Amino acid sequence: MCGIVGYVGGQQALGVVLDGLRRLEYRGYDSAGVAVLANSRLLLAKKAGKLSNLEKMLAEAAEADLRAGTTGIGHTRWATHGGPTDRNAHPHLSADGRIAVIHNGIIENFAKLRAELQAEGIEFASDTDTECVAHLLAAELAGIDGSPHALADAMRRVCGRLEGAFTLLAVDAQAPGAVVGARRNSPLVVGRGNGENFLASDVSAFIEHTREAVELGQDQIVLITADTIEITDFAGNPAEGLDYHVDWDARAAEKDGHAWFMLKEIAEQPQAVADTLRGRIGETGEIMLDEVRLTDQDLRDVDKVFIVSCGTSYHAGLVAKYAIEHWTRIPCEVELASEFRYRDPVLDRSTLVVVISQSGETMDTLMALRHAKEQKARVLAICNTNGSTIPRESDAVLYTHGGPEIAVASTKAFLTQLAACFLVGLHLAQVRGVKYADEVAAVVAQLQEMPAKIEKVLAGMDAVRELGRELADNKASTVLFIGRHVGYPVALEGALKLKELAYMHAEGFAAGELKHGPIALIGGPSDDEAGNPVGHGTPVICIVPSPAGRGLLHDKIVSNIQEVRARGAHTIVIAEEGDDAVIPYADVLVRVPRTPTLLAPFVTTVPLQVLAAAIADARGHDVDQPRNLAKSVTVE
Ligand code: F6R
Repeated sequence: MCGIVGYVGGQQALGVVLDGLRRLEYRGYDSAGVAVLANSRLLLAKKAGKLSNLEKMLAEAAEADLRAGTTGIGHTRWATHGGPTDRNAHPHLSADGRIAVIHNGIIENFAKLRAELQAEGIEFASDTDTECVAHLLAAELAGIDGSPHALADAMRRVCGRLEGAFTLLAVDAQAPGAVVGARRNSPLVVGRGNGENFLASDVSAFIEHTREAVELGQDQIVLITADTIEITDFAGNPAEGLDYHVDWDARAAEKDGHAWFMLKEIAEQPQAVADTLRGRIGETGEIMLDEVRLTDQDLRDVDKVFIVSCGTSYHAGLVAKYAIEHWTRIPCEVELASEFRYRDPVLDRSTLVVVISQSGETMDTLMALRHAKEQKARVLAICNTNGSTIPRESDAVLYTHGGPEIAVASTKAFLTQLAACFLVGLHLAQVRGVKYADEVAAVVAQLQEMPAKIEKVLAGMDAVRELGRELADNKASTVLFIGRHVGYPVALEGALKLKELAYMHAEGFAAGELKHGPIALIGGPSDDEAGNPVGHGTPVICIVPSPAGRGLLHDKIVSNIQEVRARGAHTIVIAEEGDDAVIPYADVLVRVPRTPTLLAPFVTTVPLQVLAAAIADARGHDVDQPRNLAKSVTVE
């Protein structure tokens, strides 16, 4: 949500800022804008819609000075206060034109601040909460000669008056060569260059220029010039950022020949899962999570696990519950982060709260984590983004090594989260000693086979892509996904992918629940004038567990497939190789390699991702940036 870029150095700021914004496009946005400081003047350009609209406007109307400046800020906005219009796009200027501000987050007391400023005679040029900050900064600086430190001081004083979540960047026309940033509850990282420095929502914005980053803490102000980075807290005391090296290269954020980032990320899943497992399983099968700062005694003390997350990460948690409870016999609850703290869950020192987040910035998850910590629970984050807020505030962290996920719809993050969750479950089981020690040992070995199995699924996806093109024309009012056991969260995930990418109504169900209501949704093909059936009935995508192991589960879902087919459904069955029992009931059969039940989501999810992307593409949608969505949801 909202991308932010700031630059000071020797290059043309406009180019650097626009490039950075392009790399942040994946976060989701509906307008874009830049401000460049040149010859003691602030020059602004902003436009609703995609970055290309802004670039077109700049190409047609740019003042020469816009290209001359070497200090600049830029923003992609995901609208909260005020619609996605040109006037609400950031940056916002103070009434005297001296200060330009960009912002990510929500200033919760903006109505009060706005009323105060209006009472002082200030006219607002937008409906945003952000504009208040530009006017407040200008008021703080009135009568003061511009300088980088004066701007930083003013920012500190203004932040003291703000409530809510914000990352702010500001430039002062009277303080060339400086950008000041402030951070509370929203992401901001510094890129340390050579004779140039950067500020951005995440490192992908500046990775082309530098891989040396500085992580800011909560409630900190940062002042960058071409040669200096100064960090203080909101009271003005010097503070330290945390330096780190970004070890993925700029190409990781390129499409690499794929039509969409999402397709590239689907293809990267074998590697991403392998990278997440690498170095964490010893030669004798012991799980080695030394980086997780929880002692074996901490883990032995755990008497309850909560997994808290949103969206796709929530679905990973639902899968993990089956594994963790089965292996460890510790009760495990999975909660939507947006609901968690409001229902006052029972937590204490012996509760382990596992928060799962690809971005590490999801506000709902962050708030749930803070609530858990307040209640003295131990919090372990499973996260893909180094330097983000959620791992920093957690007691312990297990990073998924998926590399940057650019497409808004999560794919490789899901499979790597599964891998990380299984590692945590297996580690808990090994540390505590379990009834199913042999099974645990077998799963450790089977987990390492997952990258090759995912690769095999990917090699057989042509028929699924073809099916996607057919389903794109389907006029059905809904697509249903059914599964049992870990196939149930996979069904939820398949439906989520279809909703967000293809804008089709889709629902995932526990297959056994169908007969308790949802089966009424299923209808057969419609009839033509002569009464002959045309097209197909309601598409039902059935995720079938292995007939080996839990055979009962398999047989039950085969019955459920027959039930829906008997009512006219068009059944698309995902079943493992050699499972012949499903053949008579499958209108379309998608094969996946044989995989033990608990690990099956690694292979059964992949066709659902490919299918959703294929339908979206055939319908002419933007697969990487579906409408209304943001990659990193930094508001509650
Ligand atoms: C769906 C999707 C979202 C995210 C959710 C949580 O494809 O990407 O549902 O999974 O917004 O995001 P993170 O994992 O960054 O906390």
